[in-house]
Amino acid sequence: MNTEIVGVQGLRVWDSRGRPTVEAAVWLADGSVGRAIAPAGASTGSGEALDLRDGGAAFGGYDVRRAVANVGGEIGAAVTGMDAAGQEALDRRLVELDGTPGKTRLGANAVLAVSLAAAHAVAASRGVPLYRSLGGEDATLLPFPQIQIFGGGAHAGRRVDIQDFMVVCPGAENFAEALDRTAEVYRAAGALMREAGSLAGVADEGGWWPTFDTNEQALETLVRAIERAGFTPGDEVAIALDIAASEFGRNGRYRLGLEGRELDSDGMVGLLAGWIARYPILSVEDPLAEDDAQGFAAFTQAVGDRVQVVGDDFLVTDAARVRDAAARGAANAVLLKPNQRGTLTETRAAFEAARQAGFAGIVSARSGETEDLTIVHLAIGWGVGQLKVGSFARSERMAKWNEALRIEAALGARARFAGAGVLGRDAEEGRPGLRPGPAGAVPQTPLLK
Ligand code: PGA
Ligand code: ZN
Repeated sequence: MNTEIVGVQGLRVWDSRGRPTVEAAVWLADGSVGRAIAPAGASTGSGEALDLRDGGAAFGGYDVRRAVANVGGEIGAAVTGMDAAGQEALDRRLVELDGTPGKTRLGANAVLAVSLAAAHAVAASRGVPLYRSLGGEDATLLPFPQIQIFGGGAHAGRRVDIQDFMVVCPGAENFAEALDRTAEVYRAAGALMREAGSLAGVADEGGWWPTFDTNEQALETLVRAIERAGFTPGDEVAIALDIAASEFGRNGRYRLGLEGRELDSDGMVGLLAGWIARYPILSVEDPLAEDDAQGFAAFTQAVGDRVQVVGDDFLVTDAARVRDAAARGAANAVLLKPNQRGTLTETRAAFEAARQAGFAGIVSARSGETEDLTIVHLAIGWGVGQLKVGSFARSERMAKWNEALRIEAALGARARFAGAGVLGRDAEEGRPGLRPGPAGAVPQTPLLK
């Protein structure tokens, strides 16, 4: 095993929205190779590292020829000769090479693809799956999944204001069972909407694209879908929301286009607290806009003991922001999206900051995805406890759920499942909520190679 980097190559590939994106390949001296593809968001936080696009006429300005050239050019030259197994030193080199806080010079898409590809190359060199290369023998915790049933906001032409209506499965014994339940709810929701004439298609992350008259109608329909699928709302299948409020709120004003009304920050807190009182909601992401830390604190104060309050656009996978939010009592969980920062090490730092603050972590995909499976391995390798990759349709989503199933099967009796107790708490430290999966519940199969 010789993990010295001997070559780096960029390739322009395509994402789930049919837009160009960046793939990096990293070769090591022992012949191992690792590849990774950068994802892309649509409802991005203003504090995110830059997804470098070329602008101009081609592909709506979304081309990535400059970022791809940076991978094989400047970045490749800078990391060739370095040890890929020294991920922190490698990522520090990438950060310093770019030299800007938001990776605006080389592009976080270019930098991230190289950072992740190096981790894959090391795992290949070690002959183990990435989750094990990252977490060793202790990496046995399968994440509690949040899975989208209806898509809205920026992912469905803003037909409803709220972006993600998701389900979580508190009563599931293991990861596989959580997916089984979700599949039934997804099917039931589709059938209900078809009958009601409120189904317009499928949104960006594979969830049903609804034509509801109010945002609350989505919640009512979701509860009915859970019941129709044969589950008890709350106990067996519950609701998680991503409000993505930065998309319709700014300066303390929130404009709900579907309902033709505008609320202030207190009004939003009141609206959401009302929903939490009436529906079995366990997790709410970005309930307020990214510029409304006070609103986040008020919301967390009001409902943070009952629901998980997740910062996505608000915290942008940034360790310093997580610490600041914890000090203010704003949020109790952080969404971890590697491309919001641009390196594996910085993503890990945000997770460590969360752990120290007693925050939960949720590894998350973007609305623009590919067949890349890295995030599943991060969730399990680091023992993060939760995973969000969109809905239960479209293969850029299903590939990730399926990879977690493969890992659960490979771990066999050693697999543990993060139950609902993980919500709003660190998966490993928040012991009261952590429910080990039943021994032997999952068939033993050979380790993934
Ligand atoms: P995005 O959506 O990838 O478009 O930002 C995902 C999310 O908001 O969680
Ligand atoms: Zn979000």
